Amino acid sequence: MDPSETPKCDVAPATASAYLDPHYWDRRFAQEEHYEWFKDYSYFRHLILQYITPNSAVLEVGCGNSQLCEELYRDGITELTCIDLSSIAVEKMKQRLLSKGCKEIKVLEADMLDLPFEDEFFDVVIEKGTMDVLFVDSGDPWNPEPVTVSKVMAMLENVHRVLKPHGMFISITFGQPHFRRPFFNAPTFTWSVEWRTFGDGFHYFFYILKKGERSSDNTEYTEKIDMPSITLFHEELDNEDYIFRTNLDDM
Ligand SMILES: C[S@@+](CC[C@H](N)C(=O)[O-])C[C@H]1O[C@@H](n2cnc3c(N)ncnc32)[C@H](O)[C@@H]1O
Repeated sequence: MDPSETPKCDVAPATASAYLDPHYWDRRFAQEEHYEWFKDYSYFRHLILQYITPNSAVLEVGCGNSQLCEELYRDGITELTCIDLSSIAVEKMKQRLLSKGCKEIKVLEADMLDLPFEDEFFDVVIEKGTMDVLFVDSGDPWNPEPVTVSKVMAMLENVHRVLKPHGMFISITFGQPHFRRPFFNAPTFTWSVEWRTFGDGFHYFFYILKKGERSSDNTEYTEKIDMPSITLFHEELDNEDYIFRTNLDDM
């Protein structure tokens, strides 16, 4: 984002665990108009458009004050629902979308751990940086705390449930495959797991989970990447993205 829009020091918490506190997000969204976690749409649009078609019913979880939904809308993906746990984010998002003429986008206050939608309702569920919040206090990334495991599984079970039989979950994250696969590949899910990367020096991960397509040998597609050094991560990460680096330090 343009640093002149919202100075980081006004809204960033003192410790990463604040990201787990819903009051933190309300306070933040009361003063912040726009912040784009990780990269903006222009960096992964080429990937999104390979997977989402204009007639897809799409749910974005944890929209915050990102412009992702309006960018999707501009690309003709108009059957969109956004949710966030923060009532302030939701109210401000509704106002912003109306002012930009994106009238069909629905915005609801809801918890991704308990999604208020019928089973098999969406073609695509997408999240950017929202699942990462659940990991900020996870302890050892190779052996996360039970509370982290249960929240992440609750989120994924909800996402899996609301996806149509051949629906797709897209997760845009810092989380590297060795930390995400144990969750994505849990036996309760039927989705296949693939990922791509994007970004310049630093690689962000773009996971594509296709419901009903897990193969018996669970073969995964992955791009081969050379992981840059931790020093490079620190130099390249924008603003608060740096706080979600936790797992990288433990590699
Ligand atoms: C790191 S921000 C990402 C925001 C946005 N997706 C982006 O890319 O800029 C995490 C968002 O998840 C929301 N959030 C946190 N826990 C949530 C939950 N249990 N259910 C729904 N949203 C949640 C926060 O309010 C915040 O808007």
